Amino acid sequence: AFKPLIFSGVQPTGNLHLGNYLGAIRKFVALQDTNECIYCVVDLHSLTAQLVHNDLQSQTRSITAAFLASGIDPKKHIVFNQARVLQHAELAWIFNCVARIGWMNRMTQFKDKAGKDRENASLGLLAYPSLMAADILLYRATHVPVGEDQKQHLELTRDIAQKFNNDFSTRIADLGIGVEMQVGEETVNGYFPITEPIIGGPAARIMSLRDGSKKMSKSDPSDLSRINLTDDADTISKKIRKAKTDPAPLPSELDELKDRPEAENLVGIYAGLADMTKEEVLSQFAGQQFSVFKPALADLAVEKLSPIASEMRRLMADPGHIDAVLRDGGDRARAIAETTMKDVRNIIGL
Ligand code: ADP
Ligand code: NA
Repeated sequence: AFKPLIFSGVQPTGNLHLGNYLGAIRKFVALQDTNECIYCVVDLHSLTAQLVHNDLQSQTRSITAAFLASGIDPKKHIVFNQARVLQHAELAWIFNCVARIGWMNRMTQFKDKAGKDRENASLGLLAYPSLMAADILLYRATHVPVGEDQKQHLELTRDIAQKFNNDFSTRIADLGIGVEMQVGEETVNGYFPITEPIIGGPAARIMSLRDGSKKMSKSDPSDLSRINLTDDADTISKKIRKAKTDPAPLPSELDELKDRPEAENLVGIYAGLADMTKEEVLSQFAGQQFSVFKPALADLAVEKLSPIASEMRRLMADPGHIDAVLRDGGDRARAIAETTMKDVRNIIGL
């Protein structure tokens, strides 16, 4: 069986928000105590939607600072940015030739991000999941912590691994570099693991504070829709105060929040920040109005986020240190990546 290994990535585009923190980064931190982890700032991915950025390097440092400020240990684990390890692009090309166009066309994120003028979206935006599969499989990672929105891309990663293992099964067996693994009921032999997503908990999908039908996102034009990791206490409180809700008090049962997406979202945020379940939050606040719940949520958010923001500011004042972390992480990542690529080139006959 494959050795357990955690991989995940975050794009250096726009402000990190509470959805990124609760849906992803907090999980990265929790997983590092008992696992080997690789956390990547995926700068190549941020070219898919927009090629010209004027501050990509400072954005990359800022995501790195957020990782470190949240508690990720870059000595025990690997923290680096994708562009330092050229093997990501090499394996992505091979996966472009493994994956089918139809698989990519079905991706809902592509449809959302490309919008109406699909013919004019970059080819990179369509092929994005292929690069994501390369990010993960270059390290033969077994588990990927992500938000709910990444579920479909993770399934595609599994499809790519499976097709590669199948298409080259003879070659992999001849070279004696296959690994036995359990896939559903079957025991199969393959070079790439069939990676499992780690999704779930109360904060797997944090919604916009202004519209309970849209996810909280870096690209939402309304700054009131999201809480940024670097927002100060007053801004956090203001955004929570202005968050859309309804006039009813909080119920005692989670079922009763089904048709109240904005209310359920705030309960989920509280649960994520406090490390509670939504049920536990409701049992604490049942019958309370938002005039009571919102200030409690604002206090909690400030208590949890402001130490991260101030540590990020401290780290950002020393870009040389952040670059050294990325350089060291990149060197360690590259060594693993090159070992995989030697095998892959061998399997393919390149
Ligand atoms: P974004 O989706 O904000 O552009 P990324 O694509 O870089 O940011 O996502 C980084 C991580 O944050 C991914 O694991 C993603 O699933 C997670 N994530 C993004 N938005 C949310 C959200 N609203 N709720 C929960 N997790 C999210
Ligand atoms: Na995303």
